[in-house]
Amino acid sequence: MKPSEVMVSDKDYFAWRYEEQTQIKHRVIEAYAKVYMSKLGARSNTLFVDCHGGYGVYIDQNKNLYFGSSIRVHQVSESVFAHRNTKNGIIICENDTKNYRNLCKVVDDLKIKNVSIFQIDYNELIKKPNIIKRYQKYPTLFFIDPFGYYDTPMENMSDLMRPFGNEIIINFMFDFLNRGISISAIQEKQLTAFFGSDEWFKARELSGLERESFLVNLYKKNLKKKTGAKYVFAYRLCYPNRNQTYYYLIHATKNSQGMGCMKDCFALINNGRVEYLGKKNSEISLFDMDFFKQNEISDMLKNKYSGRKISFQGIWEDIIEDTAVLEKDLRATLKAMEEKREIKVVRFTSKTPKGLSGNDQIIFC
Ligand SMILES: C[S@@+](CC[C@H](N)C(=O)[O-])C[C@H]1O[C@@H](n2cnc3c(N)ncnc32)[C@H](O)[C@@H]1O
Repeated sequence: MKPSEVMVSDKDYFAWRYEEQTQIKHRVIEAYAKVYMSKLGARSNTLFVDCHGGYGVYIDQNKNLYFGSSIRVHQVSESVFAHRNTKNGIIICENDTKNYRNLCKVVDDLKIKNVSIFQIDYNELIKKPNIIKRYQKYPTLFFIDPFGYYDTPMENMSDLMRPFGNEIIINFMFDFLNRGISISAIQEKQLTAFFGSDEWFKARELSGLERESFLVNLYKKNLKKKTGAKYVFAYRLCYPNRNQTYYYLIHATKNSQGMGCMKDCFALINNGRVEYLGKKNSEISLFDMDFFKQNEISDMLKNKYSGRKISFQGIWEDIIEDTAVLEKDLRATLKAMEEKREIKVVRFTSKTPKGLSGNDQIIFC
């Protein structure tokens, strides 16, 4: 939903009111873009495509200003590439005239020169030959952040991830979409385009959590099929003041390291969890404590791998998408299990006697 706007004093532009879950979204994008550019940009130029630019700036109740996704990523990019021979390019799309002008004013005010802003529907931009050439040549992180689900067709995702290193982060506007499910014909067409199939119709017979997980899983499944992503993970964000899903940030990648890093970035900002719980976000429950977390992971591993031998990387790739487990928690759990003699470890890749990595073999007793 479009936030309300406020004129920024002493400036000729407006700012959107900053909501808490938007702050979380920005911190996650910023943190992950930093990791992405640090890793992939070490040997090659990289690209960030912000498909939905927005106003460029937000304001909180104390009149503090915060920049939007593209400017934040630009700032991160300046610091990551300050002493490198490689560069990061930033392409921004904004199709609404008022929003585009506002964004340009903010960018001019900050004297940012090296970003390309287009007033265009991102669906058109990603099909332009000169843009395709760029995202096929350089590892590219796409950020797709619409207000709803209109004009975000699955069909147009198909080529974005074909080249090496390309990844997508999409804002899956669950609550808005969930409300649209039961109404008019235009929305049916939009929803079918958004999901890439009309299977979402089945959601009409479902309710509550069952409907929610059906829709998220359907989107994840179709996104994988369309883009060739090997891993897709959905991070849930609730409304700041109630225990109800607002949207999901869905991350698609072909790389388990990318998926692991994104999980770490999200968890670092959300008390070790891969979801934002609104007003409950700062509360720590028993299940968030290492002891209980490790017990739960250990039970899951015993059920899954009892009597088997599998590498550390094998386990990680096996569970990365379907569980909330972070790599550090998996490692800590396996070390505790080794101490209790519930597993044996034959180390091939670890450099230290108690380390756990890559091809180290885990034998479940
Ligand atoms: C949620 S806001 C983007 C916020 C921005 N990513 C940020 O975090 O600061 C969505 C923006 O996308 C724009 N928009 C909607 N459909 C679009 C399309 N098909 N192509 C480009 N921009 C679009 C809207 O005008 C709006 O400004």
